[in-house]
Amino acid sequence: MRINKYLADCGVASRRKCDELISQGKVKVNGKVTRELGVDIKPTDVVLFENRVVRPTVRRVYYKLHKPKGYVTTASDEKGRKTVVELMRKVQERVYPIGRLDYDTEGLLILTNDGDITNILTHPKNAVKKTYIATVEGDVTPEDVKKISKGIDIGGYTTQPCSITIKEKDDKFTRVEVIISEGKNHQVKKMFEAVGKTVAFLKRTSIGEIKLGGLARGEYKALTTKEIAYLKSLQK
Ligand code: URA
Repeated sequence: MRINKYLADCGVASRRKCDELISQGKVKVNGKVTRELGVDIKPTDVVLFENRVVRPTVRRVYYKLHKPKGYVTTASDEKGRKTVVELMRKVQERVYPIGRLDYDTEGLLILTNDGDITNILTHPKNAVKKTYIATVEGDVTPEDVKKISKGIDIGGYTTQPCSITIKEKDDKFTRVEVIISEGKNHQVKKMFEAVGKTVAFLKRTSIGEIKLGGLARGEYKALTTKEIAYLKSLQK
């Protein structure tokens, strides 16, 4: 990042004023006075203004994304698959997704650079509800619903009680709304597997009161002030 922008991001002064300060010899990079205006600052450089270290204050940003299937939720993938971060091209800050959705799952993902919000949303004590629509192969019976909703063993772990509502059925699939307050790996798929059923398609539609709404697949938008305040209020 160009040195005048770096200094401006540190709250030293406007970019133009920073150019003056640099020319006046008030800025050091890695211990040496720099009067050159075009210097590029790398993340590892230490910048001093009037002999004090300055660091950019990071603007906290919050987005919701409609993750399409065929994307991983990690920032990079050893198999070279597409990542959700690649969908956020126009966002300048380094954002990362809160929690995970499987490669073949779509729906709501929140991305931010605010570690506090990440902790709030992922900490089990806050028990934030996540809503999914699962398209399950075959017929999901009332017995299946009962077994899953009261908590079921998904291989060494018994899930918390949750809400399961059958929304519609046809001759091939049952569409089910699932609301869980935890986030074990592949949890929804495993809960249905535990009653011998296969989830053919999974979509997350909300996280607490944050809704996917009308976002198209691959589309993202900044959370509103109200949505951000809501997320902060979830801390117990
Ligand atoms: N449960 C799953 O099985 N997969 C997801 O991606 C999210 C919840």
